[in-house]
Amino acid sequence: MDASDRSLPRTIDITQPNLARMHDYYLGGKDNYPADRKVCEDLLEFAPSTRAVAASNRHFLQRLIPYLATEHHIRQFLDLGSGLPTQNNTHDIAQAAAPEARVVYVDNDPMVFAHSRALLAGARNTAVLHADLRSPKSITQHPEVKGFIDFHQPVAALYVSVLHCIPDDDQPEKVLRDMAALLPAGSVLVVSQLISDDAAMRDTITDLMRDALPGQWGKVRRRQDVEGYFRDLELLKPGLVDVSTWPTGTVLGPRPSSKEWIEYGGIGKISRRTGW
Ligand SMILES: C[S@@+](CC[C@H](N)C(=O)[O-])C[C@H]1O[C@@H](n2cnc3c(N)ncnc32)[C@H](O)[C@@H]1O
Repeated sequence: MDASDRSLPRTIDITQPNLARMHDYYLGGKDNYPADRKVCEDLLEFAPSTRAVAASNRHFLQRLIPYLATEHHIRQFLDLGSGLPTQNNTHDIAQAAAPEARVVYVDNDPMVFAHSRALLAGARNTAVLHADLRSPKSITQHPEVKGFIDFHQPVAALYVSVLHCIPDDDQPEKVLRDMAALLPAGSVLVVSQLISDDAAMRDTITDLMRDALPGQWGKVRRRQDVEGYFRDLELLKPGLVDVSTWPTGTVLGPRPSSKEWIEYGGIGKISRRTGW
């Protein structure tokens, strides 16, 4: 499936660094190349906890899906900026909790699309869409998505470790607001985004990533930027946190450092229509 009113990258160039493959490298995957690994190693010089950040964010994704399935009875998931398939993907976890769960993977990267489609060929109740998450309507109104997801029933829209790819000019808060307006009450938006409490670090990493990944990077933000995303949503407990501590406050792996960067976020429920 291919959908967008934005132009989508079509070519795979392994000589240039790529965000999805860098993420794969940090998670210990094999779908990465020297150009990706070089930027990853450069980043580790500035932010040695980056591997821990990537791993803890992945654990956040893997913990929140069973929570949404069991506590909020959500059976439909849009995984936006889904990344290269790895172990325990969203549909594996969702369908372990609720076998009837449906998952749509959405990514604008052609390699992610190709790998996801190959891996998921024949997988039950899953679909893969090549689309840009900055156009929520092109996703929810895509004919195959409309035939697959019931937009009268709650949906979890997962923006896990992706909004830092969206520059301010493309208004990540508006992207979320537009998506929320397309989903019924009882749906949730899940967000984790890279933030740093250190202004110099925010600038350094943002510049490094923009130079290395032209067109693939937005910004390392501040906590209050992420807090703005959740305006007018019902923030579920424990609220907005370093996701390595979600939901109990206990860090389950190596602790990332907010002096470097952390993934900060939480879950907002769409329970009223005013404002959104
Ligand atoms: C850091 S990876 C996160 C993968 C996964 N969500 C996770 O947490 O493990 C970010 C993914 O977002 C995708 N992405 C970035 N900008 C996007 C956009 N505008 N539309 C769709 N996908 C995008 C990238 O291609 C990449 O695969």
